[in-house]
Amino acid sequence: MEPLILRSTKFKEDQRNLCDGRELLGEIEDACLKAVFFDPQYRGVLDKLSYGNEGKQRGKARSSLPQMGSDTIQDFFREIFRVLTPSGYLFLWVDKFHLVEGVRDWFKELPDMQCVDLITWNKQRMGMGYRTRRKSEYLVVIQKKPVLAKATWTIHSIPDVWDEKVAKTHAHSKPVELQKQLILAVTQEGDYVCDPASGGYSVLEACRQTGRHFIGGDIVTPEEDAEA
Ligand SMILES: C[S@@+](CC[C@H](N)C(=O)[O-])C[C@H]1O[C@@H](n2cnc3c(N)ncnc32)[C@H](O)[C@@H]1O
Repeated sequence: MEPLILRSTKFKEDQRNLCDGRELLGEIEDACLKAVFFDPQYRGVLDKLSYGNEGKQRGKARSSLPQMGSDTIQDFFREIFRVLTPSGYLFLWVDKFHLVEGVRDWFKELPDMQCVDLITWNKQRMGMGYRTRRKSEYLVVIQKKPVLAKATWTIHSIPDVWDEKVAKTHAHSKPVELQKQLILAVTQEGDYVCDPASGGYSVLEACRQTGRHFIGGDIVTPEEDAEA
């Protein structure tokens, strides 16, 4: 029998939910998910990326997406911590500005969340940059304590530099193949995986291809993003 993870029928599994991700997380039972992906639309990065034409041509879709301030991101972290099983994983997408400035502030009140790994995604696509040009993004692997590796991670062939080119279906599309490998490594068939700010729903696609249930949503529809 499938495990029941939702407290009400307000949100649907295995499909897109138009909602605030914090509300969706609030409907999930405590300690029932082995994996959560989180790809926040953080406010600070737009200020860093204003090369002069942000919001005009190239950055139009990105700059019109709903932004998350630090308080909002911390709200997400509290809820994510609550819904993770002990030793469950949070896969946190960050760009290089947050990587060097640090993401620890986002979960400073949660000492039982620990960074355990880092994956560099080589997007195989050249972006902008004041000095070097951006070609990568980063996935911080965070585990809820107790920190256990062997008992919780079954695939040992995933390199920490991952090459994957993605079709641009959303301003922030993430690599489906990498997310599939991570899901396979930390969950079993039929388990649930959450993505509370799904954007173009790359995690939903990864769940469909790996036989996992998906629970997630976004505050706007992907179509609205595409029009932006
Ligand atoms: C970086 S994108 C996610 C991209 C996604 N990982 C993908 O592969 O397409 C972040 C998303 O967060 C959404 N967002 C912003 N505030 C939100 C909120 N409070 N609840 C849910 N989604 C939110 C934005 O609309 C945006 O689509």
